[in-house]
Amino acid sequence: MQNFDLIILGGGPAGYNAAERAAEAGFKTVVIEKRALGGVCLNEGCIPSKSFLNSAKMLDHARHSEKYGVTVTGASIDHKAVVARKNKVVATLVGGIQAALKGHKVTVVDAEGKIEGKEGNDYKVVANGESYVAPRLLICSGSYAIVPAFIKGAKEMLDKGIALTNREILDLEEVPKKLVIIGGGVIGMEMASYFNSIGSEVTVIEMLDHIGGPTDIDIAKILQKNYEKKGVKFLLGAAAKEVTEKGVVYELNGQQALAEADKVLLSIGRRANTEGIGLESIGVITERGAIVTDERMRTNVPNVYAAGDVNGKSMLAHTAYREGEVAVNNMAGKKDIMRYNAIPSVIYTSPEVGGVGETEATAKAKGYDVAVVKIPMQFSGRYVAENEGGDGICKLIVDKKYDRLIGCHLLTNYASEIIVAAGEMIEAQMRIDEIKEIVFPHPSVAEVIREALYQIKY
Ligand code: NAI
Repeated sequence: MQNFDLIILGGGPAGYNAAERAAEAGFKTVVIEKRALGGVCLNEGCIPSKSFLNSAKMLDHARHSEKYGVTVTGASIDHKAVVARKNKVVATLVGGIQAALKGHKVTVVDAEGKIEGKEGNDYKVVANGESYVAPRLLICSGSYAIVPAFIKGAKEMLDKGIALTNREILDLEEVPKKLVIIGGGVIGMEMASYFNSIGSEVTVIEMLDHIGGPTDIDIAKILQKNYEKKGVKFLLGAAAKEVTEKGVVYELNGQQALAEADKVLLSIGRRANTEGIGLESIGVITERGAIVTDERMRTNVPNVYAAGDVNGKSMLAHTAYREGEVAVNNMAGKKDIMRYNAIPSVIYTSPEVGGVGETEATAKAKGYDVAVVKIPMQFSGRYVAENEGGDGICKLIVDKKYDRLIGCHLLTNYASEIIVAAGEMIEAQMRIDEIKEIVFPHPSVAEVIREALYQIKY
């Protein structure tokens, strides 16, 4: 039996970051990870997909270079080389986490852990036949891609390698001729973007009447148009019913039809990993499969915390980092509260989507009296210089009562980087006149936010 001050179950963004913070707070910490440090984000999610998308962006730049006075001939992509480079990027970053944890003197156990009740006042986790005990437990066991039973044949086709989740598609060596993507959310759109660029015929089947999930509707519509122009086919309001070796049977307006495919991506959301990890042995409460946590990331069980996808609140790596920190701070006696109102969300398509705070729809639903301003990205000189024929927009949502920015939504290159500034403005509850005092670098694409503020009239 090994004694620690803190056991962390899961070494993804929530777990490994929390481990570093815990070690800095003086806790003797162990991280138990069954697959690979870095979790889904680093090994089969955020990072690998960004590596793919960067290669596609370079190819697209080369193909459309003439608009910018540059001639490139014979631009092509070697998908196998892209996968190999992705593996190198992942290995480098996983190595970085290993080194950081070692540097912080965190013990890493490379095995599946299961909570097995208590040993006196301590919680007990068993991994690889060894028992680890500690008075504190942080559960960061993440999530998995939904392979729905309601889509006939999905599981069977996954076993046959025809259906894929985010895990398998990022290791696909061959470029599918016809790729059908079930779910036009974040993963669906990022993978549609990559495979469209490298030559697959892509069809997106989406149950809702728009893509991009909770993305502001104006942004989602322009994004869809952009991808339609590039040749992606969208079947909106269509429900996938069955996956077969020939493709996907879907229902649209009461009619069933087949979308032909040699590969099918299942991207209809993720579910928290709460089964089989022994939660019941200590009585941790779950709701719709996710661990219930409060604003300090505490579960219903004393000194047991949960951070990251496993609590189902906001399945994003950057949320997970912060939740892990909030948990550790509270364990260390420092009051810290998790706020979800200014968490940026990004879709790394080309152009990128970046959003933070309320959308027009959520603001109105919550009863805010809002002023909405939408301006084309052409208000930014740098955008015009860099985006021949671009149709990006910047949309701001302002709470008229307090004259504060409560939402910012962008469709442009660099949206992922700019959105952090808007997030800070919302987080700091800045008034519009205060934001106007900020000096933005010129020329920058971010300046569009400043320009948009001057267009607000109420
Ligand atoms: P998602 O929740 O973003 O989108 C799933 C989509 O599938 C929804 O639009 C839904 O309406 C649709 N759908 C559900 N059932 C369907 C059916 N039977 N037929 C057709 N459409 C159906 O889920 P996704 O894309 O799988 O992503 C999972 C998680 O990973 C999300 O929480 C996301 O935020 C996160 N993620 C974040 C990234 C980022 O921050 N850039 C990148 C990739 C993933």
